[in-house]
Amino acid sequence: MVQAISRGYSDPRASISLPDDKDMLSKVRHIVDDKSKLRPEYLVVVGTGGSNLGTIAVQEAVLGRLYNQLNPATKVLYADTTDSDYINNILQLIEPPLRTDGSVVVNGISKSGTTTETIANFEIVLNQLRRYRKDYENYVVVTSDKGSKLWDLAIGKGFDVLEIPEMVGGRYSVLSPVGLFPLGLLGINIGQLLEGARFARDLCIESDVEKNPAAICASIQFLHYQEGRNIFDLFLFSNDLESVGKWHRQLMAESLGKEFNKKRKRVNIGITPTVSIGSTDLHSMAQLYLGGPYDKFTSFVSVEQNNSDINVPRLEGYAELASEIQGKSLKAIMDAILEGTKRAYRKDKRPFVETTLPDKSESSVGQFLQFKMIETIYLGYLLNVNPFDQPDVESYKKETREILSRK
Ligand code: PA5
Repeated sequence: MVQAISRGYSDPRASISLPDDKDMLSKVRHIVDDKSKLRPEYLVVVGTGGSNLGTIAVQEAVLGRLYNQLNPATKVLYADTTDSDYINNILQLIEPPLRTDGSVVVNGISKSGTTTETIANFEIVLNQLRRYRKDYENYVVVTSDKGSKLWDLAIGKGFDVLEIPEMVGGRYSVLSPVGLFPLGLLGINIGQLLEGARFARDLCIESDVEKNPAAICASIQFLHYQEGRNIFDLFLFSNDLESVGKWHRQLMAESLGKEFNKKRKRVNIGITPTVSIGSTDLHSMAQLYLGGPYDKFTSFVSVEQNNSDINVPRLEGYAELASEIQGKSLKAIMDAILEGTKRAYRKDKRPFVETTLPDKSESSVGQFLQFKMIETIYLGYLLNVNPFDQPDVESYKKETREILSRK
């Protein structure tokens, strides 16, 4: 791993060099400053998979899942799939500011530059922007691989462009301009995000395995996998972290789910990642988790310090419904639920590990994402598969293009 740092962007593990790239950070900051001057009411992020899951994860963790509803200066919308009703709702939302004096910034993100859903949605959103703004190019930023078809088109149209280093794959790209530009425009401290990632990176490349948290966790998961526990449940006791779970689901599924191993032997291997939210999913999944097959390994994640806390107010008559919660803080209740869940898992010999984030700051979230990315790379080594390719995702994309060109 240490070698990967010295090889930088020429190594397949290029993503671990992103936290050191000062030049990238200053280019992103420059465009963030420029587009902030437009005072956008909306930022529309057009991208899918590795091109938007990391951004959603960090945005919701740091700013909260109800961010848009709290009326921030710049709201964010994600155009990922080609669902006409959903995309139509996005067009409806951005039309009022466009009709008046407001502005809307569009960030089209595609590493390959040719993903069907992204290009379709990008054209549709740009078309709306063009109807209301003659100088619409000034409101558009494209993030792609240098020299992709989308990159070349963006240069031709006069859009600002941000480069994704070639060896940084989609699901490892949250700390590249893919995540940094939209997050920076929403006011997230992207310097702190990278700082946190760098701190975790340095711990997780430590060659003494016993001092390396990513290597330890990857080894534990691998041993459980070998004993038949091929489902990995990331059980997040924080609503705002749900999308971190979805980001991790792609990371694990695409990196480890493989038809062939590194020696080209057909293995059809993989660990199935699932996401659970505490305490919500205890009311839907706990029966299966505690009563069903012993095929899961769980990682509980909780947050030490929330941004706020609320107490149950001791209203008259309510003590009879649940006396043990009166006057207690929601945090204390949530901690008790997590503790109770762990006790139940232990009693039933359901294996788990636990991670506690100090808070949901940029630095803590950056640390966690970097830790999970390096852990996944180690799991790839242990399972003897290439954690950086996704040949079977490419195959559905090719088939789709063929069907659409026939029609
Ligand atoms: O991890 C991957 O490679 C995929 O999930 C891609 O991120 C996703 O398909 C989007 O691809 P692109 O960024 O090329 O539009």
